[in-house]
Amino acid sequence: MQISLKPCKDVTTVNTDCLILIVDSTLSASIAKATDAACGSTISQLIKRGDFKAKTGEVLYLPAVTGLKAQRIVLIGKGENAEIKDSEFDKIINAGINSASVAGCKDISVMLDNVNVTDRKTAWQYQRIAQLITTAGYRYTATVSKPKPPLSIRRVTLQGANNDANRRAVHIGASTGKGINIACDLGDLPGNICTPNYLASEARALGRKYDSVSVSVLDEKKMAQLGMHSLLSVTAGSDQPARLIVIEYNGGKKADKPHVIVGKGVTFDTGGISLKPGAKMDEMKYDMCGAASVVGTMSAVAEMDLKLNVVGIIAAAENMPSGSATKPGDVVTSMSGQTIEILNTDAEGRLVLCDALTYAGKFKPESVIDIATLTGACVVALGKHAAGLFSNDDGFAAELLEQGKLAQDRAWHMPLWDDYQGQLDSNFADMANIGGPEAGSVTAACFLSRFTKDYRWAHLDIAGAAWNGGANKGATGRPVGLLCQYLSSKAGS
Ligand code: BES
Ligand code: MN
Ligand code: ZN
Repeated sequence: MQISLKPCKDVTTVNTDCLILIVDSTLSASIAKATDAACGSTISQLIKRGDFKAKTGEVLYLPAVTGLKAQRIVLIGKGENAEIKDSEFDKIINAGINSASVAGCKDISVMLDNVNVTDRKTAWQYQRIAQLITTAGYRYTATVSKPKPPLSIRRVTLQGANNDANRRAVHIGASTGKGINIACDLGDLPGNICTPNYLASEARALGRKYDSVSVSVLDEKKMAQLGMHSLLSVTAGSDQPARLIVIEYNGGKKADKPHVIVGKGVTFDTGGISLKPGAKMDEMKYDMCGAASVVGTMSAVAEMDLKLNVVGIIAAAENMPSGSATKPGDVVTSMSGQTIEILNTDAEGRLVLCDALTYAGKFKPESVIDIATLTGACVVALGKHAAGLFSNDDGFAAELLEQGKLAQDRAWHMPLWDDYQGQLDSNFADMANIGGPEAGSVTAACFLSRFTKDYRWAHLDIAGAAWNGGANKGATGRPVGLLCQYLSSKAGS
């Protein structure tokens, strides 16, 4: 995808397959007026007749127009308010991309004069469009004989000043979009392909692609030496070996403390001996979407060339029942030295994460964020619209919430009060791995909090946000958008 910026002096000379005009019913923007005048008032007549009301996100496709170099026009309504909401901007842009691609257009030109988004700078609009056009091009192709045809659009021109700041915004948006697509691809791959070893090979490929990235992979022997018996308890029943994958991006000064992101990479979660019911169990191939978001984000960070240090850690394992599997009631010692009574082998995410989080401490991190499809309870609480956010630092939580809003990839702050900790009491170990039926996403976060005392930490439960079920089953790539936005803000973009 080629995305460029260009101011528009005379709309009649814009040579494109498709002119995208974002309009209100009075055609208040000067480019909209000029377009209407050039094509013999076609647009204003259509509005007068009631064919187009310019409601927010409403689309009218004009396949042939006279008086303009442009081959087609897609009109998209923006309502009658002087400003639109950020979510409405996305809706408008997606409607434009969809209409132009259905028509098979290769080249589009997007006019943005008089498009004002509340609390957002103009550069935000460029970043957003670059991201949305990039993710619109995502296709799952790995295991289908006749994949959907690729997106027709190859070139996008955005009306705007072609300066460094705007070009940077486009680059950040496009890089984020590519990172999201990488996460979607990994998430959508089936469990028989996307194994812990497969995740490791994808990480190693990143290390080969970028000089700024180095990758190391710990095998089970090494993990045992480090005392990661909690993580290893999850893989005990599987024929696929577990991996701890470490992706280091060095874009900052050597002494800069790294931002660490840790992903749950359970490449398939059967529940283990605490076996899950059969319905929709296939969706547990998505139980590595935290890991996928780490790979996608690390790739984007390298692509954006951010001036900071980032470490991505992936705890990759498959959760299977077998003769060698961990049993309910088994007690293991984590790398931290704390013992855990495994009352339910289906609460395995926290078991792989706790050792990865202890390992993260080795990097003397600036902060640590873990990302995990951790609990069904989080889906009950928040649905698919927000990730659950837990943190041992309210300022850090507030910052992530804000960056999530900017990225249109929102999280919602959940409590991590001491009141819940008692639910993890065990008679036979320092803690149990489950906290009973109440507040399941909170007690899961409480469990993790016992391994993150030495640094600033946040936990994103993406059980609801990571993929869509039903007819449009597929990964969303979340929260790569939030993480990229946060990290680029930390780097001063
Ligand atoms: N991967 C699941 C969580 C999950 C379930 C995510 C459904 C998305 C949709 C996790 O490993 C799990 O099984 N959690 C259990 C925890 C329980 C045993 C305390 C759950 O949520 O039921
Ligand atoms: Mn589970
Ligand atoms: Zn799981």
